[in-house]
Amino acid sequence: MFLLLLLLLSIDYKTVNAKSECSVDGQVRSPKYHLIEKCYRSKLGIVTKANFTSLTSCQRLGFEKKALAINFSPQEAWSEYNVTGRYTCEVLKCAEADGGLSMVNDSRYDYYSIYGKPVPHVNSTCVPTLGMFYILTKKQNYSQGFRDCKNISGLPADVTSEQRTDSLAQLIAGASLEVAFVGLRSKNGSGFFSVTGDALDCTTYRAWQPGSPRKARDKYDCVLLTRSRTWVTTPCKKNYPMICEIVPGGPYKRGSIFASRMKPETNMENKNDEEF
Ligand SMILES: *[C@@H]1O[C@H](CO)[C@@H](O)[C@H](O)[C@H]1NC(C)=O
Ligand SMILES: *[C@@H]1O[C@H](CO)[C@@H](O)[C@H](O)[C@H]1NC(C)=O
Ligand SMILES: *[C@@H]1O[C@H](CO)[C@@H](O)[C@H](O)[C@H]1NC(C)=O
Ligand SMILES: *[C@@H]1O[C@H](CO)[C@@H](O)[C@H](O)[C@H]1NC(C)=O
Ligand SMILES: *[C@@H]1O[C@H](CO)[C@@H](O)[C@H](O)[C@H]1NC(C)=O
Ligand SMILES: *[C@@H]1O[C@H](CO)[C@@H](O)[C@H](O)[C@H]1NC(C)=O
Ligand SMILES: *[C@@H]1O[C@H](CO)[C@@H](O)[C@H](O)[C@H]1NC(C)=O
Repeated sequence: MFLLLLLLLSIDYKTVNAKSECSVDGQVRSPKYHLIEKCYRSKLGIVTKANFTSLTSCQRLGFEKKALAINFSPQEAWSEYNVTGRYTCEVLKCAEADGGLSMVNDSRYDYYSIYGKPVPHVNSTCVPTLGMFYILTKKQNYSQGFRDCKNISGLPADVTSEQRTDSLAQLIAGASLEVAFVGLRSKNGSGFFSVTGDALDCTTYRAWQPGSPRKARDKYDCVLLTRSRTWVTTPCKKNYPMICEIVPGGPYKRGSIFASRMKPETNMENKNDEEF
């Protein structure tokens, strides 16, 4: 119910503000939780928990709280294992990256994530409830950066909210960078558009640094996020780092979250074998 209300509100809001076509959900992320591994629980931070009998209720709570992942205990597990005092639905701020380093064996729970296929790169950074991001530190032009983001199942990051601009600016600072390309672009001197095709005019938040955007949009056609939480326009052909936002997806192929965890071990075993 609440969810539907939110959706309706956002449609209404966007219709009012729209100068050109705005999609219903401009966000890169979709709200589907994919089963990652049965009998596993993630120990990543919990936003909230509840005692639900149905997975759907748990998923709905997750969506409402913008959870990137959930631990859910199905009814079958209750009779078999002691769940006294445990909540059946744990809604998580972050999702596991490749390796599943915060996952533990726990027969009472199944772990679900919005990132199923591919599993986010091991060096992705989670911004709680916002998403998983990856910084391309290599300085290159926008099209090269875009291509590299795509290669890790990402897109140049969306910065069109205060929360996004603030937390991604922190990410830039944390990586000891000054600026990075983000997912806003002007084509042919038009207004700015997100990578999902939404006009910047569809949202009201702005963080332009004084002097930006330049009048010559055909030349200053890309946008950099600065570590001081502002947006600056720059030519797309110039070289800068880029922040990629991992696009959620599935279905998940069982075991693939542990792929990188297993590989080094296998290699070590092989080496040991050779030594003997
Ligand atoms: C189940 O776990 C609770 C809390 O950990 C404990 O108090 C209780 O004795 C356990 N019950 C059984 C049947 O093991
Ligand atoms: C949640 O429900 C289960 C099953 O009825 C129960 O064993 C458990 O104690 C409940 N948890 C809490 C925190 O109330
Ligand atoms: C979980 O248990 C299985 C089977 O006992 C074991 O093979 C696996 O390594 C365990 N995983 C973790 C993360 O402890
Ligand atoms: C992840 O980052 C670490 C530290 O910067 C680096 O050593 C490692 O090679 C990276 N892993 C991958 C798979 O890129
Ligand atoms: C895509 O990434 C893989 C490894 O993650 C790398 O081997 C490959 O060269 C990359 N492709 C391009 C076109 O950058
Ligand atoms: C951009 O402008 C050029 C020349 O004015 C035109 O040929 C091209 O079709 C335009 N592209 C788009 C996407 O509007
Ligand atoms: C971006 O860089 C690549 C490789 O350096 C180059 O081939 C391409 O023409 C550049 N694109 C733009 C728009 O500058």
